[in-house]
Amino acid sequence: MPLVKLYFSPALLFLVLACPLCQVSQSLPVMSTGPMADSCVLYAQSLLHNITKALTQENLFSGINCTKQGVKVNMETKTASVCAPKQSVCSGVINSEFDQESCLTNIEEDLHHYYKFLAAQLDPDSLLGPTVLFSLRELMENCFTRSLPTGLVSEEAAADRPSTYDERLSLCKVLKGFQVRVITINRVIAYMNSGEHTK
Ligand SMILES: *[C@@H]1O[C@H](CO)[C@@H](O)[C@H](O)[C@H]1NC(C)=O
Ligand SMILES: *[C@@H]1O[C@H](CO)[C@@H](O)[C@H](O)[C@H]1NC(C)=O
Repeated sequence: MPLVKLYFSPALLFLVLACPLCQVSQSLPVMSTGPMADSCVLYAQSLLHNITKALTQENLFSGINCTKQGVKVNMETKTASVCAPKQSVCSGVINSEFDQESCLTNIEEDLHHYYKFLAAQLDPDSLLGPTVLFSLRELMENCFTRSLPTGLVSEEAAADRPSTYDERLSLCKVLKGFQVRVITINRVIAYMNSGEHTK
């Protein structure tokens, strides 16, 4: 899947971090879909925690200072815009509706995209499998309906050789993009858990 390279400017970082603060004002008509379970809020938090921790694992990125690298975001989905809270004001535009179904579909596509990418990574020291992939799987299995991707490269087969510099560099950038996306997903799941979107 094509990934577009995006460098983290302070302005972008501000937008990403400021969106949870976007003003959510008085509510509008009722929606049919119910709130997200409390456990999903926790699964999403664990995932973010585990990704953030993985980004500090120097063994995953040997020879690379991951902090200095750009961020590669999955551009196949429209999660950030489709999932903007109702009545939120982001960049001066008021979002009048929240389409839960299309928001969930976009999140699910993101999760599948990253699951496939991460499951195919070399992980000889098990720095991804038991942490990031594990919590990603928990979130997908318990909170989303689509089944897990099948036919992935087995970890045993992939662990036979050391990773190349380019593979580590790509992992760094994609994992940073995943972190940004999971910050958004955490905000959206908390919003759907609050029930605010159904009012
Ligand atoms: C993932 O994050 C959760 C929540 O912070 C933590 O409890 C758990 O131990 C982490 N998982 C691993 C394998 O590090
Ligand atoms: C990586 O780069 C960051 C930002 O430039 C710097 O603060 C940090 O010390 C560097 N880390 C290493 C291990 O060189």
